[in-house]
Amino acid sequence: MDQSGSSTSNLFSLQSHILSEETLHPGASGDFSWIISAISLAGKAIADRVRRARLENVLGDQGATNVQGESQQRMDVIANDILMRCLGSRASIAVLASEEDEEPTIMRRGTEGGKYCVLFDPLDGSSTLDTNGAVGTIFTILRNDPMIESAERTVCQPGRKQIAAGYILYGPSTAFVITTGSGVDLFELNPNIGSFILVKKGMRIPPTKRVYSVNEAYSSSFPDGYQEYLKWAHANYYSSRYIGSLCADVHRILINGGVFLYPPTTSHPDGKLRLLYEANPMAMIMEQAGGMSICGTTPTLDVQPKKLHERVPLVLGSSDEVKAVMRHLS
Ligand code: AHG
Ligand code: MN
Ligand code: MN
Repeated sequence: MDQSGSSTSNLFSLQSHILSEETLHPGASGDFSWIISAISLAGKAIADRVRRARLENVLGDQGATNVQGESQQRMDVIANDILMRCLGSRASIAVLASEEDEEPTIMRRGTEGGKYCVLFDPLDGSSTLDTNGAVGTIFTILRNDPMIESAERTVCQPGRKQIAAGYILYGPSTAFVITTGSGVDLFELNPNIGSFILVKKGMRIPPTKRVYSVNEAYSSSFPDGYQEYLKWAHANYYSSRYIGSLCADVHRILINGGVFLYPPTTSHPDGKLRLLYEANPMAMIMEQAGGMSICGTTPTLDVQPKKLHERVPLVLGSSDEVKAVMRHLS
């Protein structure tokens, strides 16, 4: 088994892998597998549209700004619509919440069978699409809390409560990375048969790797601790890799190791990345693969979300590398 998990000779699709895992949970109703199947279908449909976006002339701005105050890309809207149409038909879904939508969508109450909440960043890194950059879809699944009336309060659960999280990376290949709380597994889409095929089980992040990933253009506005860390990294011959697409930067770290930082900046004093749709799912992936994720000096998964579109400062990656950042923050 190489560092980043064991390769498997048997042919497992995402579908068969999730169903086989389900048999480990007696009494599982199949609802959860049904939701993963909807996310898998949406991933294939989004991959198809992303790869033809320039040909279909759907790149660029939608001409609107989203609730994040950012100019919405046309592909953001297309990806969001595909996810809503794939997930909306799943009878166990209580709430859908998207980075692109101001409010969550209540599909059905607990009393009507609504068991799960699905949150997603439909297209992450979408501003790099025009230059054929890698983009992704980030998703996370929470249990519905039928006692809480407000949809926003229902989804504002600490990341530790996530029952599954992952991302689909639309790069040279379409990779599907998921954890359901017992390790991180990697699937790759075989477009010839239309299936995500299991290629690595139990991925582990190397504990050390002298590569940091940060937008250095903003470094003069970082709080001192982050600037001290960067000075230390420069003095210790670190290399730098930054794609500006969270899924792509995280995937590189999951496979090779390293550390990603998005500190507070002048334009984003609380950090730019969204706690519910970006930080929490990626933090679960990191921890499940033996890495770490912090917001300030608090483990990301322990942060209690206060509002739906809350932004946080984020440092994640190899455990020793995150600890090196922490030493400069405290
Ligand atoms: P999104 O496209 O969903 O808005 O996310 C973009 C995010 C994230 O993907 C990336 O890590 C970060 O923006 C890059 O921000 P900067 O361009 O400010 O470096
Ligand atoms: Mn994003
Ligand atoms: Mn996005």
